[in-house]
Amino acid sequence: MCGIIGYAGKHGAKDILLDGLKRLEYRGYDSAGVALFEGNELRTIRAVGTLDALVRKVGPLDLKGTVGIGHTRWATHGGITEDNAHPHRSSDGKISLVHNGVVENFAAIRTFLLSQGYQFSSETDSEVLANLIAYHYQRDGKSRGKNRFLESVRRALLHVQGTYGIAALCLERPQEMVGARNSSPLVLGIGDGECYLSSDAGGFAARTKDVVFLSDGELVWTNGAEFSLTNLGQERLVAKRQELNWDPIAGERNGYSHFMLKEIFEQPQALENAMRGRFSSDGSTAHFGGLAMTPRELRQVERIVLCACGTAYYACLTAEYFIETMARIPVEVEYASEFRYRNAPMDRHTLVLVVSQSGETLDTLEAMREARRKGFRVLAITNGIGSSIAREADGGIYQHAGPEIGVAATKSFTSQLCILAMLALYLGRLRDMSFDEGVQIVEVLKAIPAQAMEVLLQNEAILHIAERHSRCRDMLFLGRQALFPIALEGALKLKEVSYVHAEGHAAAEMKHGPIALITPDCPAFFLACDDFILGKTVSNIHEIRARGGTIIAVVTRGSNIPNEIVDDPIWIPRAHAVAKPILATIPLQLFACHMGILRGCDVDKPRNLAKSVTVE
Ligand code: G6P
Repeated sequence: MCGIIGYAGKHGAKDILLDGLKRLEYRGYDSAGVALFEGNELRTIRAVGTLDALVRKVGPLDLKGTVGIGHTRWATHGGITEDNAHPHRSSDGKISLVHNGVVENFAAIRTFLLSQGYQFSSETDSEVLANLIAYHYQRDGKSRGKNRFLESVRRALLHVQGTYGIAALCLERPQEMVGARNSSPLVLGIGDGECYLSSDAGGFAARTKDVVFLSDGELVWTNGAEFSLTNLGQERLVAKRQELNWDPIAGERNGYSHFMLKEIFEQPQALENAMRGRFSSDGSTAHFGGLAMTPRELRQVERIVLCACGTAYYACLTAEYFIETMARIPVEVEYASEFRYRNAPMDRHTLVLVVSQSGETLDTLEAMREARRKGFRVLAITNGIGSSIAREADGGIYQHAGPEIGVAATKSFTSQLCILAMLALYLGRLRDMSFDEGVQIVEVLKAIPAQAMEVLLQNEAILHIAERHSRCRDMLFLGRQALFPIALEGALKLKEVSYVHAEGHAAAEMKHGPIALITPDCPAFFLACDDFILGKTVSNIHEIRARGGTIIAVVTRGSNIPNEIVDDPIWIPRAHAVAKPILATIPLQLFACHMGILRGCDVDKPRNLAKSVTVE
């Protein structure tokens, strides 16, 4: 949510900033801007709309400055206007700042600053921060000599309640850049005589892999050649440098028209990566290096609370079926935003597991912190290497799905399902699952990447189905048992990327209300691939057909669903119940993606959404 990039070094900042913003655009795309030094001048250029609008403005300018900051915005405070776009400049012109997060006490600070003669030209909380730094720079900075800029940022932040990741420049210090973080991610990249700041290492990963992930309450100062890390208490810190294990090429579209499509097609590989090296040598169970819990401790777990947001929440709902079936441990699934504000009764045998692709979703992070404050052990499943959630969890599992740029989660979801199924297997084998059943599940899991490939081969057929339905206004997604959360995910995907109104329901529940929506213009998308109670699902299909509804259905190859009751079948291979949620997801993703493209939507950057929601 909001992308920040900063550069201080010896090369032209303009191209580095624009390239960084392009890579961060998935974090927000309401408006964008850059500020960079030209000699002793600090120039700010901003534009409303996607990054292309900014590129059209900045591209032709001959800017040679080697220090600058940039921002791509997802609006929180204030509408989508050029005045509200970042960077913001203090009214005395001295400080320029980009900000990700929310300053909760901005109204009080603003009133104070107005009384001190500072003026405001935007409705944002971020401009307040720029002026507050300018105020401290002016008031008590003079005595601080060489550290004057850094100290004024620190002093300003001591008064801030809320969250921030910032990068700031000072007119009188044209070589310097200061960054700071509190609950909004910020990463320092160290190059040869140059430093980068970004809210996501992807912003500069093509240029350097030498990084320092800032923790809350930390500030970084750099003049390009050098950097220092301190905290709000003015202590100097030793920077923990890490080598980024990142393939920048993976962040390109590679010939696909959209990142979403590319990432859907990457699923066989992402699933392989989720499993690589994680099966026991006897082939009967999974194991994970980073859980930081002994088998004995895991056997004592009597209840698991799964917490997440968005698509990751649906992965958790599916995992409830996996874990309860395979490990027989009661599971509860909570929206992180709800969990963190309620005192859910939990005892000492409860294990909390958070799931987050980015590892930066603020509600998930805060839910995790609240559980840890209460003394619970929290494990995390995340794709965000070095992310806040990865660093603060007691233990966890990396997805290794590679960068996911499309705002709508695709490969990260099936990768989460796969890892959660493996975890369920592991927990099951620590309890009463037999060796033979363990071996069978391992074989089932290992077969999924090839089966996913088979499903992807129907892309063309799914495109034609989408063409037939691209004008519909509503759609129902219906499934049972572990396919019920997949129906929820199918509806979410369609809503997100095509703006068609869609609802997901447990198939039998449709008689209690949703069936009222059925008309020839409201197709029903069934996940009719459950062997277990397929007969019931078939009855539901008949009930909808009897009311003039059209049926699209994911069906198991060779199953005995009568051809005449499904208008548009999509086939998945015959598979075990554990594999079905993963395989059945792929047609839903392809369908949503094609529907979005056919309806002229930007499926990679759906309106009003952002990939990583770092505000509450
Ligand atoms: C946003 C994204 C979703 C994602 C959700 C949770 O809403 O648009 O695709 O599922 O955040 O994100 P996380 O990174 O925590 O999995």
